[in-house]
Amino acid sequence: MEKLHVGLGKNSYDIMIGENFFEEFPKYIGEVYTGKKLFVITDSNVHEIYEEKYKEMFKGFNYSIFVLQAGEKHKHIGIMPSIYSAMVNEGLTRKDMVVAFGGGVVGDIAGFAAASYMRGIGFIQIPTTIVSQVDSSVGGKVGVDLPEGKNLVGAFHQPKLVLIDNYFLNTLTDRYFYDGFGEIVKYGCIYDKNFFDRLVEIVEKVGVSQDDENYIQKLREHLMKYVNELVYRSCEIKKEVVEKDEKESNLRMILNFGHTIGHAIEQFTNYEKYSHGEAISAGMVDITKIGEKKGFTKEGEAVKIAKLLKALNLPTEIEYPKDEIAKIMKRDKKSTNDGINFVILKEIGEVEIMKIGAEEIFE
Ligand code: GLY
Repeated sequence: MEKLHVGLGKNSYDIMIGENFFEEFPKYIGEVYTGKKLFVITDSNVHEIYEEKYKEMFKGFNYSIFVLQAGEKHKHIGIMPSIYSAMVNEGLTRKDMVVAFGGGVVGDIAGFAAASYMRGIGFIQIPTTIVSQVDSSVGGKVGVDLPEGKNLVGAFHQPKLVLIDNYFLNTLTDRYFYDGFGEIVKYGCIYDKNFFDRLVEIVEKVGVSQDDENYIQKLREHLMKYVNELVYRSCEIKKEVVEKDEKESNLRMILNFGHTIGHAIEQFTNYEKYSHGEAISAGMVDITKIGEKKGFTKEGEAVKIAKLLKALNLPTEIEYPKDEIAKIMKRDKKSTNDGINFVILKEIGEVEIMKIGAEEIFE
């Protein structure tokens, strides 16, 4: 078991990372919460698989379970009143605790419910997907989508504790297993070339060709041997960035590498065609190709990034109408009247924020 401490003054918390330790959750929860009532928010997929485990995960607590419909398209503001009503009906007070048990959608909605109910109560993140382990469960960004755009309503509300048990990854479909590697590759690109190279080295060691019919399965088994190390370093990078800039005034923007185009692709395809990791994978390659074309990025980096993402079964080229994507990007939170803050790679391991117009980026 490994521990990372996110140092944010009175909003500080620990991230526990390990494998098969869900039976110890009550002990860790008890260290940050002296009450007895837990309001657990999960989704239909996770609930179906892990319902039997709740009695061990939350032993000694009075817990109630609220089940959301699974999927990004259900992360909209219209879902909130039913959650608030359930919280009131359960008699939840300001001293009680929400638990987010699921992927990024569950974490964002549950965190937003905790941030807004009675002007804010505590919450704990138990992320069950790689993307939520390495990104959304850490850093306190919570919120819901509007029809006009992703995450347009939300808050910064740090969890009291993050419990990352890789046991939960075993039930992910292959698609959602690989989805999370988009964010892991991102950390190498924006912050740590050695980490990028380490990931390349691990993937190359799989010992099976990408054309082999068992490649997807063999690579997954191989990556599971390194997943603690990869999740730990990803969370460590995220924590370092968030500690320096909790509210995204400057440095934290680097975490949006590939996300401006990626979010627009997700929205343009109605959150149905591409997962988050898939959309940002293509987004990271596209913005790097654009950077190279405009002379901001060292030549050859887009090819290296695309090679790694492709080996991780992620798409590196998604066709989209640039005018429609530009329109969506203008509504992004990173957009202001004088342009959008794009995260541009200088070279792998180093990025720069550059304000560029939504149409100009594609010229
Ligand atoms: N996912 C980007 C951030 O947490 O800032």
